[in-house]
Amino acid sequence: MNMQLLQLNRPIVLAPMAGGITTPELVAAVSEAGGLGSVGAAYLTPQQIRAAGAATRTLTARPFAVNLFAPQELPEVTAAQQAAAIAELAPLYAQLGLTPPTLPPQVQPDFAAQFEAVLDVHPAVFSFAFGRIERAQLDELKRRGILSIGTATSTEEAVILAADGVEAVVVQGGAAGGHRGGWVQDDFADTLELVQKTVQAIQIPVIAAGGLMTRKDVLAALKAGASLVQCGSAFLRASEAGTSAPYRKALAQAKLDDTVLTRNFSGRTARGLKNTVSEQLSQPLPYPYQNALTGPLRAEAARQGRAELISLWAGQGVWQGREGSAAEILEALCP
Ligand SMILES: Cc1cc2nc3c(=O)[nH]c(=O)nc-3n(C[C@H](O)[C@H](O)[C@H](O)COP(=O)(O)O)c2cc1C
Repeated sequence: MNMQLLQLNRPIVLAPMAGGITTPELVAAVSEAGGLGSVGAAYLTPQQIRAAGAATRTLTARPFAVNLFAPQELPEVTAAQQAAAIAELAPLYAQLGLTPPTLPPQVQPDFAAQFEAVLDVHPAVFSFAFGRIERAQLDELKRRGILSIGTATSTEEAVILAADGVEAVVVQGGAAGGHRGGWVQDDFADTLELVQKTVQAIQIPVIAAGGLMTRKDVLAALKAGASLVQCGSAFLRASEAGTSAPYRKALAQAKLDDTVLTRNFSGRTARGLKNTVSEQLSQPLPYPYQNALTGPLRAEAARQGRAELISLWAGQGVWQGREGSAAEILEALCP
């Protein structure tokens, strides 16, 4: 996996951002500008994945990635834990005029069906987070000429993914916005230190992610040994992004130290701007249950423009973010 193979002119990967942020327009704009756009498809149905892939293809003939979350073994959750999590959420649902949530029968997407849809889209790259995928799936990607990229939050995880046979690894430092992408050992590391340590431990390309918002950051990551740099927060305010209006407003107002790590939205640790949900809940269910419980709340809050109830994922560098077209943002990041 290298820039030549992907014909990239810019060493930048648009981070996949599930939840409608990485629209076909944003993905295509980054790929057209010479970077690698990524469709965050983790919350999409197979049909929506095929549609997103097709829409992106109409906008660019250049390579792009599609990203999913590796499926999780469902943890044990008692009735009492469920009741407590629902009771905590009920007043927030009420604020939006909604009745208390219930757990849907299916709490996570059907990964196998999503994966089939990705194969049909046949992107240049398939990236994944939250764990490992099956050997047979990695073999199938290879057979079809789709490059695979896993996500690690420590060198230990990167070594496991490399041994599994992925073509590159995203290493996610502790400053990163959104969910922690690992599964066994999260070092919440300094991004540059994690890159330096990981390039010495594995033979495949390392992609740096986490808090990289400026040209200086990108240069430093490349100097540390990264082959590419994956940026999420830097693109959240791009004109082509699907970021909702209240989310954009909160991002524009963000100051240094406004982000926190919280499990309250999904049950899985993620970094975002502090708000009512991150600060007031104390008994979230484990992922993916809490994610399922808060889904309708997040959707309705976005509709009603209530930033205090939306997951405002953002990395520690968010205060350095800017508005503009994706191409302008990409240019400003490039060495
Ligand atoms: C809003 C948002 C959504 C994200 N969704 C995903 C996702 O669906 N899949 C994934 O692999 N990473 C996801 N991430 C994490 C990014 O891949 C990346 O690690 C992170 O954005 C890097 O840190 P930065 O935001 O400081 O640039 C998300 C990040 C943000 C900010």
